[in-house]
Amino acid sequence: MIEPSAALRAGLLGLSRNDTVRSLVQNAPISRDVVARYVSGEATADAVRTSTELNGKGLLGTLDFLGEDCTDLEQARSTRDNYLELLGALSEHGLTEGGVIEVSVKLSAVGQYLGGDGNKIALEHAREICEAAARAGTTVTIDMEDHTTTDDTLSGVRELREDFPWVGAVLQAYLFRTEADCKDLATAGSRIRLCKGAYKEPGSVAYQDKSEVDLSYVRCLKALMEGDGYPMVASHDPRLVQIAGSLADRYLRASDSFEYQMLYGIRPAEHERLSAAGHKMRIYVPYGNEWYGYLVRRMAERPANALFFARSLVSRG
Ligand code: FDA
Repeated sequence: MIEPSAALRAGLLGLSRNDTVRSLVQNAPISRDVVARYVSGEATADAVRTSTELNGKGLLGTLDFLGEDCTDLEQARSTRDNYLELLGALSEHGLTEGGVIEVSVKLSAVGQYLGGDGNKIALEHAREICEAAARAGTTVTIDMEDHTTTDDTLSGVRELREDFPWVGAVLQAYLFRTEADCKDLATAGSRIRLCKGAYKEPGSVAYQDKSEVDLSYVRCLKALMEGDGYPMVASHDPRLVQIAGSLADRYLRASDSFEYQMLYGIRPAEHERLSAAGHKMRIYVPYGNEWYGYLVRRMAERPANALFFARSLVSRG
C-alpha cells in the first residue's frame, strides 16, 4: 500500500509539469513570503545581495537562475545571458575568487529540451557560462534532472571537463545506477554533489521507499568519501549529515576536501552550525521569476509546507 505522504509527494511532483496548474498558481496573488522563503528574488541584484549576505556569514553559495524545461531558443539564450550577467556582477563585487560563490545550471534551462540539436545547443550555452566562470575565478555545477536526461547530462559534464576540469556533476541516490556512477566519477579533482533526488521516477529505475533511498545515499557517500574526488554532501537530513562526518573521519579527509550543501531557506541554523564547526558549507540559492517547478519540488519534500502554501493561496486568492 502507498503511504499517504508518498501519494501526496507523487501528486505534487505530477503538478510540477502541469501547465494549467502552473499558470493558475503563478498568477495567483499568493503571499510573497512563501516564495521568498525559498527564492532569493527575481533580479541579478537580489542574487548578488544574498551572496553578499552568505559571504558575510562565512558561507559559500551556488546560484541557480530559475527556468527549467525551456522549449524556446530565445528563452534558452536569455537564461545563458542571465548567467553571464550574474557572473560579471558577482565578480565585480569580489564574490567569485576561489569559488566562494559559484553557479548551478540545469541543461534543460539552456536548451536540452529544444529537440533536434537541443543537447548540442545546451552544451554550447553551458560552455559559454563555464568560460565566464573561469574569467571570474569560480566554478559551475551542472544540476541533474529526471532520469531520461542522466546519460546526456553526464556525457555533457565529461565534455565540459575536458576544458574546465572543475565542472561539478550531481548524482541522485534514488536511482539504482548511482552507486556505480559514484565509483566511476570519484576521481582526482572530480566535484560530485550527492543528493537524494527530487523528481517523480518509476520503480523500474529508482528506489521508491524512503529508507531504501537513505541506504543508497550512505553507500554512494561511502564510495565518494573513499575515492579521490571532492564530495559535496547535499542533504538536510540530520542522520546523513552525521554519517558524512563519520565517513570523512574514517577516510582521513581534511575539512577542506569535501563540503556540505543545503538549500536556501531550509534549516538555516544548521548552515551556521556546520560552518562554525569549521566545515565548508555551501547554500544553493535559486533566483528569477520562474520559481514554480522549484517550489513544487520543495513542497513535495515536506507535506507541512504544501499545506502552508495551499492555505496562503486560498486566503489571498
Ligand atoms: P529529506 O527530504 O528526507 O529531508 C530531511 C530533513 O530536512 C527533513 O526531515 C526536514 O527537517 C528537512 N527538509 C527537507 N526538505 C525540506 C523542505 N522543503 N522544507 C523544510 N524542511 C525540509 N535534486 C535533484 O534531483 N537534482 C539536483 O540537481 C539537486 N540539487 C540539489 C542541490 C542541493 C545543494 C541540495 C541540498 C539539494 C538538491 N536537490 C537536487 C534536491 C534533493 O534531491 C532533495 O530533494 C532535497 O534535498 C531533500 O532531500 P534531503 O536529503 O534534504 O532529505
